[in-house]
Amino acid sequence: QRPRIVVVGSINMDLVARVDRLPKPGETVASQQLDQLPGGKGANQAVAATRLKAETTMLGRLGDDSFGPVLQSSLKEAGVATSSILVSENQSSGVALIGVEESGQNCITIVSGANGQITTDDIDTWENVISDADLVLLQLEIPHPVVELVLERCQEQGVLTMLDPAPMPAEQLGSRMYVADIMTPNQTEAELLVGFTVTTTEDAQRAAEELQRRGASTVVIKLGADGALVVDEAGHATHITAPEVNVVDTTAAGDAFNAGLAVALVEGKSLANAVQYGCITGSLATTKLGAQPAMPSRAEVDRLFKEQTRL
Ligand code: RIB
Ligand code: NA
Repeated sequence: QRPRIVVVGSINMDLVARVDRLPKPGETVASQQLDQLPGGKGANQAVAATRLKAETTMLGRLGDDSFGPVLQSSLKEAGVATSSILVSENQSSGVALIGVEESGQNCITIVSGANGQITTDDIDTWENVISDADLVLLQLEIPHPVVELVLERCQEQGVLTMLDPAPMPAEQLGSRMYVADIMTPNQTEAELLVGFTVTTTEDAQRAAEELQRRGASTVVIKLGADGALVVDEAGHATHITAPEVNVVDTTAAGDAFNAGLAVALVEGKSLANAVQYGCITGSLATTKLGAQPAMPSRAEVDRLFKEQTRL
């Protein structure tokens, strides 16, 4: 049976400008290319999970602007179940302004639009979809009380949850966020969470342990090209390396990672192997421009996973 993944999260139109290098504050740089590509951390995770052959449902809100139908149909074409997505009247859909430089690094500003209109009442509407899931994926581009309520409902129903604390808000996360079964901050988010620099795997381990002191269960710190550091519920830490790839655009690599990790876990892979599956999914997503268009296929991920686990 295919894993049933539900995403409660954001759907954005990404306006992507390629630049030689990202501008510093106050600086203007020129770009020769503007792309309009479907994104949003929630929708990206949904598309990535679907590409990995999970049965995936997207729960979120779109605006009644011209981006809305484009975003909905691109999800649908990817194979994501979209019939529960709600539309907010007199609202724009979520938009992300993204600069991508030569090295593949990016800078993202999001305008939440309809993503910010998701309410706890919507969660009641979606109750059956959520309770039917094997695993629910969450991020922080929608109102935090909604995320906290979904986490609470899932815990009551025994549904696994994975929280990507992205983007990290200026203020600290409330204690209700820590009930997620798996938390997956990247380096920057981990630093904002714990208040110290996270560069080495030792730093990452200390950060994960600090999050566990606050109530977190399994913590996976995403380290980009350096793979990921996972600390399981028993406090056992493992560093997983990422495959070397030709980086074009790192946008949504973290989203791909989460989808890979989720699918692998539901399919019964060990935590370490699932993290490796996530690393491979994330790495492959960096080899193409854009978010949703860059999500790798199951065959591509499986091939690399077999190669790496044979070593
Ligand atoms: O994680 C990448 C995503 O962040 C982009 O697709 C953009 O929409 C922002 O939400
Ligand atoms: Na990409």
